[in-house]
Amino acid sequence: MITDSLASTDLAELVRSAEAAFARTDTPADLENAKAQFLGKSGRVTELMKGMAQLSVDDKKTRGAAINQAKQAIEAALTARRQALADAELARQLKAQALDVTLPGRQRGTGGLHPVSLAWERIEQIFGSMGFDVGDGPEVENDWFNFTALNNPPNHPARSMQDTFYVDMQGEDGQPYCLRTHTSPMQIRYATAHARKHAAALAAGEIPEVRVIVPGRTYRVDNDATHSPMFHQVEGLWLGENVSFKDLKVTYLNFCKAFFETDDLILRFRPSYFPFTEPSAEIDIQFRTGPLAGKWLEVSGSGQVHPQVVRNMGLDPERFIGFAFGSGIDRLAMLRYGVNDLRQFFDGDIRFLSQFR
Ligand code: PHE
Repeated sequence: MITDSLASTDLAELVRSAEAAFARTDTPADLENAKAQFLGKSGRVTELMKGMAQLSVDDKKTRGAAINQAKQAIEAALTARRQALADAELARQLKAQALDVTLPGRQRGTGGLHPVSLAWERIEQIFGSMGFDVGDGPEVENDWFNFTALNNPPNHPARSMQDTFYVDMQGEDGQPYCLRTHTSPMQIRYATAHARKHAAALAAGEIPEVRVIVPGRTYRVDNDATHSPMFHQVEGLWLGENVSFKDLKVTYLNFCKAFFETDDLILRFRPSYFPFTEPSAEIDIQFRTGPLAGKWLEVSGSGQVHPQVVRNMGLDPERFIGFAFGSGIDRLAMLRYGVNDLRQFFDGDIRFLSQFR
């Protein structure tokens, strides 16, 4: 009996010390080391088993059963600790790889139109509403359309107003080709096609009006805050029986009011020179309110189409009279959006461009 009670006391103590040793471990490796101290080949449970050799058969039975119980208790503690460590490790990993499903997903940017495109579309829309057709033509242009037909023959000093890039190519027409310096060649191309299309009406003495705008890219050897080697113009051409500067003024003023969304602006013509118009004028506008108020701003070249140019269109300058204008789209966009350096339009910086979405 004494032996039994001693035995149970030391076995209970053994179980407690195993539980404590397991509880102190933080990793599976530490736990396996601790296990070896109790259940390993020379562990304490094994030693107790060996110590039974001298006992009587009856004592062996009771002692053996008690040791077995202790062993099972230790194994249960080991299993529990293993599970606790595995749970802790899993919890740690889950925390480290935490996915916050409450975050909004990354959205795909929707993009937007370039401010020059916005201005371009606006121009087409406004002139369209005033009865203008919208034309389109080549950026690589031949000498005849870009210069000569516009009353700007080879060696004419006015050619130096528009230095450009020449293209190393000769068309079937034997003409030298260049990147067009303005959209004015479209005056000739469009009006020539118009004359061909209305040949019968013309022969019958009718005067079918030409009324078109042509927006597009243009090129010159220029590069500073207000000039880029590639820029955008919109050409306007209105020819008819009696189209005058008065019509130009009304048309252009109404365009500006719609484009800038204000009635608070005035317009003036300032005498100028272009070989293809006579007389010629720069168009200046002035806002009477807003950040640009009080300053004359040049927005367009213009003039009455020169009789020789009308002839080059295949039309009779005695019957077809009217005006043309050529405005910088980039310039109009800069004024509308308050941009002061033209180059920002072409740098492709998304932080700048996304402001216009
Ligand atoms: N083509 C001229 C330029 O680019 C502008 C202009 C167009 C002037 C039409 C008069 C008439 O400078």
